[in-house]
Amino acid sequence: MGSMVLQLDNIYKDYLSGKMVVPVLKNVCLHVEEGEYVAIMGPSGSGKSTLMNIIGCLDEPTKGTFLLNGKNVLGLKENEVADERLHNIGFVFQTFQLLPRQTALDNVALPLIYAGVSKKERRKRAAQALERVGLADRVNFLPTQLSGGQKQRVAIARAMVNNPKILLADEPTGALDSKSSIQVMELFQKLNEEGVTVVMITHDSDVAHHAKRIVYIFDGELSEERR
Ligand SMILES: Nc1ncnc2c1ncn2[C@@H]1O[C@H](COP(=O)(O)OP(=O)(O)O)[C@@H](O)[C@H]1O
Ligand SMILES: [Mg+2]
Repeated sequence: MGSMVLQLDNIYKDYLSGKMVVPVLKNVCLHVEEGEYVAIMGPSGSGKSTLMNIIGCLDEPTKGTFLLNGKNVLGLKENEVADERLHNIGFVFQTFQLLPRQTALDNVALPLIYAGVSKKERRKRAAQALERVGLADRVNFLPTQLSGGQKQRVAIARAMVNNPKILLADEPTGALDSKSSIQVMELFQKLNEEGVTVVMITHDSDVAHHAKRIVYIFDGELSEERR
């Protein structure tokens, strides 16, 4: 048994809408071991992004326990949470979230600024990360000069540049054509083979089946089928 990187138990998340309490996650339990490749699949509105925000330490649950790499991250101070996030998790989003006026290299180097890495080292590591995703020849391109698939690969390079344990992706192929989607899935596969734990959120069953394990979410409740 590998070590447990994600340990969520009895997680509830309510949102307040005016005075109304809207329950979104209901008694969610999810354990992910190091090196796993998990897809979380469910329809729109089922709570996938809410769950991703909790896993990514961007939001806290209303109730429940969450250990990230064995560490209780709930109730940590904001800067401590930011630190855990920076070193443990790389994020990939449907809409890439690249800075439009910065080159691919500068976009990828950004997380290294927060990690306190020197400029020379940042450029070196960002170039290596872009090479890892097959974009060595695009380092000085702006996002507008890249295809959707290339933009997502820049975003994946940025997510991986700090060597996080976990790659957390929310609908990573949602804005891509089928050819680019396949390239992104091949890249996730490669990163997983290199030891990265991948947690991918999707509503697309073809995409979900690239993972080794699929967890389903319906109306805020998780259920699982081992394959
Ligand atoms: N900040 C919020 N305030 C109130 N309700 C929210 C908020 N964020 C999400 N919700 C509600 O929670 C439910 C799940 O949303 P979300 O996690 O984004 O689902 P998914 O990513 O699966 O489409 C939806 O009904 C949505 O309207
Ligand atoms: Mg969503």
